[in-house]
Amino acid sequence: MAWLASSLAILFLTTTIAKADQIIYSDDSLSNGWQDWSWGSTLNYQATNIAEGTTSLSVNSTAWAAVSLYTPTPFGSSFAGLRFDISGDEPPIQFYIQSTTDNSQSPTISLTAFSTSVTSDNFTSILVNFAELPPTGAPLGNGTWDRINFQAEGDGAVYNIDNIILVDEIVVTPKFLSAEPIGTNLIAVTSQGAVNFTGISVNQNGKAVKVKSITNSPVVDIPNKSITYLTLENTFSAGTLVITAVDGTSFNYTLPKALSGTVNQLKTFPINDNVYGVNFPTDADYIKNLGVTAARKGGNAETAYNPFGDFTNAGNDWYFENRANDNADDWVGWVQGADADAILLLPALDWVSKDTSSYSYPKTVYPDQQSFDPYNADAGDGLLPNGSWVSPPDPSLVYAPWNVSAAQTYLTGLKNKPQTLTIDNEIEIASSTHQDMHPDPLGYDEILKRVLDFGTVAKQAIPEVQIAAPSTCAWWFYWTSSIGDADKAAHNGSDFLPWFLQQMQIHDKAAGKRLLDFLDIHYYYAPDTSANDAAAKALRLRMSRSLWDPTYTDESWIGTNAPSNTQPNANQVMLIPRMQALINKYYPGTKLSIGEFSSGADTDLTGGLLTADMIGIFGKYKLDQATYWATPDEKGPVGLAYWLYRGYGTYFGTESADVSITGLNPDTLAVYAGTNTLHNNATLVVINKDPDTPVALKLSGIPTGSYFLRHFGGQAGVAKYQTTISVSSTQYLVIPAYTAAFLQQRR
Ligand SMILES: *[C@@H]1O[C@H](CO)[C@@H](O)[C@H](O)[C@H]1NC(C)=O
Ligand SMILES: *[C@@H]1O[C@H](CO)[C@@H](O)[C@H](O)[C@H]1NC(C)=O
Ligand SMILES: *[C@@H]1O[C@H](CO)[C@@H](O)[C@H](O)[C@H]1NC(C)=O
Ligand SMILES: *[C@@H]1O[C@H](CO)[C@@H](O)[C@H](O)[C@H]1NC(C)=O
Ligand SMILES: *[C@@H]1O[C@H](CO)[C@@H](O)[C@H](O)[C@H]1NC(C)=O
Ligand SMILES: *[C@@H]1O[C@H](CO)[C@@H](O)[C@H](O)[C@H]1NC(C)=O
Ligand SMILES: *[C@@H]1O[C@H](CO)[C@@H](O)[C@H](O)[C@H]1NC(C)=O
Ligand SMILES: *[C@@H]1O[C@H](CO)[C@@H](O)[C@H](O)[C@H]1NC(C)=O
Ligand SMILES: *[C@@H]1O[C@H](CO)[C@@H](O)[C@H](O)[C@H]1NC(C)=O
Ligand SMILES: *[C@@H]1O[C@H](CO)[C@@H](O)[C@H](O)[C@H]1NC(C)=O
Repeated sequence: MAWLASSLAILFLTTTIAKADQIIYSDDSLSNGWQDWSWGSTLNYQATNIAEGTTSLSVNSTAWAAVSLYTPTPFGSSFAGLRFDISGDEPPIQFYIQSTTDNSQSPTISLTAFSTSVTSDNFTSILVNFAELPPTGAPLGNGTWDRINFQAEGDGAVYNIDNIILVDEIVVTPKFLSAEPIGTNLIAVTSQGAVNFTGISVNQNGKAVKVKSITNSPVVDIPNKSITYLTLENTFSAGTLVITAVDGTSFNYTLPKALSGTVNQLKTFPINDNVYGVNFPTDADYIKNLGVTAARKGGNAETAYNPFGDFTNAGNDWYFENRANDNADDWVGWVQGADADAILLLPALDWVSKDTSSYSYPKTVYPDQQSFDPYNADAGDGLLPNGSWVSPPDPSLVYAPWNVSAAQTYLTGLKNKPQTLTIDNEIEIASSTHQDMHPDPLGYDEILKRVLDFGTVAKQAIPEVQIAAPSTCAWWFYWTSSIGDADKAAHNGSDFLPWFLQQMQIHDKAAGKRLLDFLDIHYYYAPDTSANDAAAKALRLRMSRSLWDPTYTDESWIGTNAPSNTQPNANQVMLIPRMQALINKYYPGTKLSIGEFSSGADTDLTGGLLTADMIGIFGKYKLDQATYWATPDEKGPVGLAYWLYRGYGTYFGTESADVSITGLNPDTLAVYAGTNTLHNNATLVVINKDPDTPVALKLSGIPTGSYFLRHFGGQAGVAKYQTTISVSSTQYLVIPAYTAAFLQQRR
């Protein structure tokens, strides 16, 4: 789908070689002082297997190796862009620009963001427009840019490249890119270059409709494309709508019959503020801009966090290597300073990292391993060629001992106290993620013991802290331990989480006070949407039903296999109601948090639409806390979902309001209503998941008058669009295809 503004723009931009262009490579060799700083790659600057002119540059890069070109004369912001011609079987490479002076760099951009149809029988010309880099459209900006990289991904890459040129000028052809009906009488037009708006004509069901006003709205985060809202004299109605520009470009819609619904502003309940959380926010501005309420510092690479030196180990995520880690105390300080709740991970295994540089499986000691760190050829992945683990090394070579006394010292010493502590992270799979220091699979009893031991000292050190556990990674492990069925049998056949809740209740009753505040789980969708084609995108957008819908059979192994659990309706995940029912049965009063969840498609528009749907579901189904994994790009699709609900101080509402729409198909549409106890502002979020067809709603219970409108998606793409509109009737409210829209009453 070519919605991405950046790829659209590239299609319509043209370049001509101008005098002021700088050729980096054309035939035979580098020119203009450019030097070869490549690594891990076999290069031939005079390849003739395919060429434009006489020769091209042929490249054969190993995993993560790169063609890297350097100039001693930084090119700063003096060029408009970079052009290159590439040939290969859509080589899996990524492109980025660096400054060797200050180590800054551009986003890392996959070749697919520029073109998905690069072939080996021809060259495809790629233009990198410095004014709007994919995936977000942010400009490259000023810098001492002096190095460009074409880096292979994990499987290596073979391709040819030719005519690498810094271009002086990019000429923008005036063009209407899209025109979509939205709201009751608004048309959102995106365009590039100097187009003529006054000549646009609009025709509804065969009759001309007058344009009452034209307002230009600057598009935040996508420069060089503008959005213009045309306000019509008449409101929309079902039938055909044709918008025709002066240049003859026309946009033709069939507006459907409206779905009828009711919003009840009086039937409400509070939304827990902490459902708008993320892992690892980048800084205080990020928290404020996106309205983030809860920030988690967790994940596999925090399990071995040593607060007495700020070291950690990445475990199986990165070759079991030690490294430096952010200081937790400072982190809590700035997160809370930005008004978000801080959620810290408390290590609960027996070891933490002892320095910033050791690693568990040196090649010098274990020569036969499956792979080695491309940036440190001596650090291996601990796997033998036959797939078995190398026998665990002596942990004290890489780790320092850790226990409850150390935890108590650490927590007592914190100047900044976190609101919540999770007892470690996905501890049930430590025998794989931290195989080097905990090779034995953890069973029910060990998980419980560690939660009790570390949770107890945590509350001794910080009495008001809330404990979240056991942060279980996935559906399978909600019910079964790494030891397997024998462990379950040894626990009276009980599935893991119900057993855990029961044990926590027994413990807390005996202790006379609550140790477990949150049942914390992680949730990653089980269906495979990696193909990211039309079918995968549709699946992605409907699989949010697994969070709530008792009639939705999971479209993965969960929905078809007889799973190893004794849960009712185990082919339907219905995650939030299911977990709430377990809590009510086994330990009432425990809150529910989802410490990690993801759309699985952070750079795709559908990942943003899905996240907007999930955030709505969290409020509607009374989840207590949720933190996205990992950091949504503030300007990317997932960041837009947070911005939609919470951006720049405009909030969805403190209460969820009742909304019912007759005939709503949750595969293609989601509607959430909210209100605000302070101002009583009616708020609506509508997510149209259909890629092609606008949706229309006929709503009662929503007042007419002035509304603030925000939206992203559709042909408008990945950028922040907002305006204020006047709603004279709620009989026919249009939301374009593939769009998430936010409407809030202004009085
Ligand atoms: C690329 O290099 C690898 C060795 O690193 C070699 O096995 C492979 O055949 C090369 N591929 C091509 C197309 O030259
Ligand atoms: C390669 O591209 C050129 C120029 O666009 C075109 O004329 C030619 O037909 C293409 N060849 C193939 C095999 O696609
Ligand atoms: C970049 O540099 C130019 C001139 O060197 C300056 O006019 C412009 O404001 C700078 N832009 C930013 C974003 O700093
Ligand atoms: C824009 O189009 C209208 C209608 O065709 C025309 O009257 C007007 O002169 C055009 N404006 C410009 C600046 O070209
Ligand atoms: C984008 O906008 C900037 C300033 O607004 C301008 O300098 C640049 O030439 C434009 N680039 C394109 C491709 O329109
Ligand atoms: C718009 O689409 C309708 C239905 O497909 C068609 O009948 C009509 O001719 C189209 N109008 C224009 C101007 O393209
Ligand atoms: C893999 O190789 C190691 C060392 O030779 C051996 O001990 C182990 O049993 C093998 N594992 C499998 C699954 O064959
Ligand atoms: C924790 O480890 C320290 C140092 O190894 C030891 O002195 C202490 O007794 C241990 N505490 C517990 C509770 O095991
Ligand atoms: C074991 O499970 C059965 C039902 O599966 C239940 O009736 C019984 O109370 C359980 N026993 C214990 C000790 O939890
Ligand atoms: C809600 O309504 C109040 C009162 O009219 C207004 O000041 C405010 O801007 C609106 N929005 C929010 C988010 O409160």
